[in-house]
Amino acid sequence: MATASEIAAVGVIGAGQMGSGIAQLAAAAGCAVLLLDADSAALSRAVASISASLRRLAAKGQLSQASCEDSIKRIRCVSTVQDLRDADLVIEAIVENEDVKKKLFVELDKITKPSAILASNTSSISITRLASATKRPSQVIGMHFFNPPPIMKLIEIIRGADTSDEVCAAVKSFSERLGKSVICSQDYPGFIVNRILMPMINEAFWALYTGVATKEDIDTGMKLGTNHPMGPLQLADFIGLDVCLSVLRVLHNGLGDNKYSPCPLLVQYVDAGRLGKKRGLGVYPYA
Ligand code: CAA
Ligand code: NAD
Repeated sequence: MATASEIAAVGVIGAGQMGSGIAQLAAAAGCAVLLLDADSAALSRAVASISASLRRLAAKGQLSQASCEDSIKRIRCVSTVQDLRDADLVIEAIVENEDVKKKLFVELDKITKPSAILASNTSSISITRLASATKRPSQVIGMHFFNPPPIMKLIEIIRGADTSDEVCAAVKSFSERLGKSVICSQDYPGFIVNRILMPMINEAFWALYTGVATKEDIDTGMKLGTNHPMGPLQLADFIGLDVCLSVLRVLHNGLGDNKYSPCPLLVQYVDAGRLGKKRGLGVYPYA
């Protein structure tokens, strides 16, 4: 197994909001990045947003023009899981659905080299259960980035029931190599941050649903009253309402307490395809 400094090739699966930011970070840290998505349009959007993000950082003097262009060159878009066979570390950032993720882990286990570490950026799903889909559970780990990955300073590492100390240490050092602070969580629904964040977002939906206040006043209340950078409804749109709903369902099913039951308004927005900023409409419209 590669140590953190020996991780040279990183596979990133899912080129959406999170996967594109994760690919950017790994490339900026000097790794060769193989970026895979089931949707070729998502790959094109990811390359454009990574280039814009890196150039924004270069314009602010946070990285040199040369390393900006070199980082962009280190990212190769690929179209099959087989293309990831030489990766030292694979970070999965596809849809928040346990069955779909498990299927991918089965495939990854078959094609990646025996020493490769398989990480998931899941927001809530059990790492132990994803690991159980593979024959290398000691090398499966949660590596939870925050949105937007290039800006947010944290990575939450989740240790599955069988994750080895060696793998935890390698992923912790690799996260530090990406410039992030690390926290470690045991493998329980929602881990640390979403266990606490999502009930707040859900409560904001209940406040809106039951007519406590307008969406604007709920968000302004939490922004100015508690110094959050975004109000909870705006943040839900930013994260993706589909992701918020999936996490709440994992919390509700996994912890068995009705306090996690998703607000019907959130469910209805997702049913209507109002997934948030990424789709141009969520709680708010986006141009
Ligand atoms: N790449 C590079 N730079 C970026 C960027 C990106 N993708 N996104 C934003 N920036 C930079 C901007 O250039 C700007 O830089 P300057 O201040 O130097 O000009 C800075 O970040 C702030 O951006 P903006 O001015 O555009 O907007 P803002 O001040 O409103 O900040 C924000 C945007 C950083 C997203 C801020 O609103 C924020 O922190 N929001 C809360 C985000 C949050 O809580 N994320 C976690 C969600 S939970 C999660 O991720 C876990 C889960 O599983 C669901
Ligand atoms: P997204 O919808 O922006 O992107 C997901 C991408 O995965 C899409 O481009 C889709 O085409 C691709 N995809 C889906 N199934 C695939 C498959 N089987 N093979 C290859 N590609 C596939 O989603 P996102 O917001 O980037 O979230 C991705 C993951 O990261 C989820 O597990 C989510 O819970 C987690 N996460 C999200 C946030 C957030 O704020 N959005 C924060 C931390 C973690």
